Amino acid sequence: MSPFLLTRTLPEDATEAALRADVLRGLTRTPKTLPPKWFYDAHGSELFDRITELPEYYPTRAEREILLARAAEIAAASGARTLVELGSGSSEKTRYVIDALSDLHTYVPVDVSESALTQAGHALIAERPGLNVHALIADFTAELTLPGTPGPRLVAFLGGTIGNLLPAERAEFFTSVRALLSPGDALLLGTDLVKDENVLVRAYDDAAGVTAAFNKNVLTVVDRELGADFDPGAFDHVALWDAENEWIEMRLRSRTAQTVKIPALDLAIDFAAGEELHTEVSAKFRKEGVRAELSAAGLELAHWWTDEQGRFALSLSTVR
Ligand SMILES: C[S@@+](CC[C@H](N)C(=O)[O-])C[C@H]1O[C@@H](n2cnc3c(N)ncnc32)[C@H](O)[C@@H]1O
Repeated sequence: MSPFLLTRTLPEDATEAALRADVLRGLTRTPKTLPPKWFYDAHGSELFDRITELPEYYPTRAEREILLARAAEIAAASGARTLVELGSGSSEKTRYVIDALSDLHTYVPVDVSESALTQAGHALIAERPGLNVHALIADFTAELTLPGTPGPRLVAFLGGTIGNLLPAERAEFFTSVRALLSPGDALLLGTDLVKDENVLVRAYDDAAGVTAAFNKNVLTVVDRELGADFDPGAFDHVALWDAENEWIEMRLRSRTAQTVKIPALDLAIDFAAGEELHTEVSAKFRKEGVRAELSAAGLELAHWWTDEQGRFALSLSTVR
């Protein structure tokens, strides 16, 4: 196989159809909602990479610390020949695992962002001659068909992205990940942990306003793809901690009463002054909750590692 393959698992117009369906459903319900996957066009992916370097955004540094310390253990426990990464983005931290897996045959990054996959894929094959990279443009919440590469398989889901799914969506997601695994395969999962509210809120509302720009980028995507006339400047970025659900919510609050036109959907959407559009949930976890959710899907928590400060956890689970 050639060292870099990029496969689109859905026809090109499927993305537009999915965006139309999500915008129609999300903006005509109360509260108005848009799914977070639409943040990630090329600009959104770049903004996310900038977020990972912000002083307030500890999850990336904490997860990198764990990966650095535990890559050899992860490699020894999994012995993977195929590493599949869901929501791989820049694949930056994944390099520690790739380097530790001495028998690795193929790396399969899976993401909705074609620009992130292309950049990461080209960088990886240049840095790691001999590594096969088979990237998939795909939605990890939909059914995935993986390339027929040799096992054992390690499925990695890093960055705390699991927290962007609601509990019922997580249950479905873990069940579909379980279906991708055979005995001897494993799941490497990154989960951000419950902690002080101020630390959490600051991570999603940084002083430089990069997270605000990332949040508003979803409006730019809808403007470009569906000809809408959202003015991102007419919305404020909001990040708040929901203590009952133990998740951060990102919202966009309309500064004034306004009507937004979405010609591709023949829609005009009214926003009241102060009305909030919900854009992302980022759930925070506790060990026993993670164990229970995995177990309900037939996965057994085998290792649980945290960074020194106990901010973030990486777990390795096997098929029960
Ligand atoms: C929070 S970022 C994490 C990126 C990287 N894994 C990290 O740890 O820094 C989420 C990544 O998942 C991708 N993503 C979000 N929703 C997705 C979906 N439904 N299917 C596939 N990829 C998705 C985004 O494009 C982005 O690259």
